[in-house]
Amino acid sequence: MLSREDNELLTRVGPGTPMGDLLRRFWFPILIADELPVPDCDPMRVRVLGEYFVAWRNTAGVLGLLDARCPHRGADLSQGMSQENGIYCPRCLWKFDVDGNILDLPMEPVDSPLWKVKAPAFKVTEYGGMIWAYLGPQDDVPDLPEFEYTRVDGDQRHVSRFLVECNYMQGVEGGLDASRVAALEKAGSMDKAEILDNEPSHTVEAKSTDYGLLIGTALDADGNVNPELQVTHWLMPFYTTAPADADGILEGVAWVPIDDESTMAFAVTYNPKRKLSKKVLDDIRLGKRVHPQLTEGTLRRSRNRENGFQERKRADGTFVPFADRFRTSFEMAIACQESMGTIVDRSQETLGPNDGAVEGARKILMTAAVDLMEGTIPVIIHKGEAYRVRSYTGETQRGTKFDEDENVRDGINAKV
Ligand code: FES
Repeated sequence: MLSREDNELLTRVGPGTPMGDLLRRFWFPILIADELPVPDCDPMRVRVLGEYFVAWRNTAGVLGLLDARCPHRGADLSQGMSQENGIYCPRCLWKFDVDGNILDLPMEPVDSPLWKVKAPAFKVTEYGGMIWAYLGPQDDVPDLPEFEYTRVDGDQRHVSRFLVECNYMQGVEGGLDASRVAALEKAGSMDKAEILDNEPSHTVEAKSTDYGLLIGTALDADGNVNPELQVTHWLMPFYTTAPADADGILEGVAWVPIDDESTMAFAVTYNPKRKLSKKVLDDIRLGKRVHPQLTEGTLRRSRNRENGFQERKRADGTFVPFADRFRTSFEMAIACQESMGTIVDRSQETLGPNDGAVEGARKILMTAAVDLMEGTIPVIIHKGEAYRVRSYTGETQRGTKFDEDENVRDGINAKV
């Protein structure tokens, strides 16, 4: 539970807000690399943290990221054209380079003071199959987070993005909850009595790390000698990982705020050893794993809040249960987070002992935001190597601390 004031602190991400200032201190993805495929392709309009930007690739193939509002009279630069190493504003054809400098001022004399005008420009780079932005102070650039998937070949990973119609923190909190996602999976494949009979008890522990949280979920079913253990991560400021699967496929999601009430999820599936198999690629195409099916030509999931997550009746008039409408537990978990409203009122919630990761992530983010207001820059922004971790699934000895288990310690180290 949070006070209303703390909920505001946690969820408001626009310019000048404490959390917005904190999030702007990190690199994060804004587009899939294929969306700016070649030099001088059409620019892309990007909305992130409540602001609009234009992302583009100039004639030399160099990426640019400018405030979308033309500094002349505010026309949208993403409606402009990339040509001869500059982007033209659509209104009166001022032309800017990737650093925001003016290259051309049609109809203005050569000695016009307007030549000194600059469009606000931001750091941008291609990394791990995506295009990443850094919107914070441009003289203190953080490390890129060294996620394992950024160091594998392109055919070993798949990345996608899709809209989530709620505040970024609801996405994060849904992604922290590996045990409940597993329970949702079962709910989709069993009847209720079977779930109650077979559901293992879940015990979730979260340990603070330099990058965020190490989360251990013990699943203890009747007859198990030792509980199954799923170890996942929350990494500052909004990255979550899914439990490792039996085939060694790993997955994660970046929950990047579009604004206070909507989020762009960037989902990654990768195989650290070899290229993704046809089976994995087929699953992805069918909307399985962490890549939900989208309404054609949009970034909106086909089962979305507007259509009641495809609420519908069977031929006999009975409603299709919520759990049966989704391809995956992941997709269902997002729907649950959206069903809370665009910004859930956390002063009305009742957390339990297994919600420690949710509480821990909130506390770390809010503390970092307040510290930054007082001048303390988060150490993690210059420790990109701290992101070299992966999820792990194994067994845990009864009575041992999950984070002290040697197998876990080795298992969570990225190998690439
Ligand atoms: S508004 Fe952009 S050049 Fe005039």
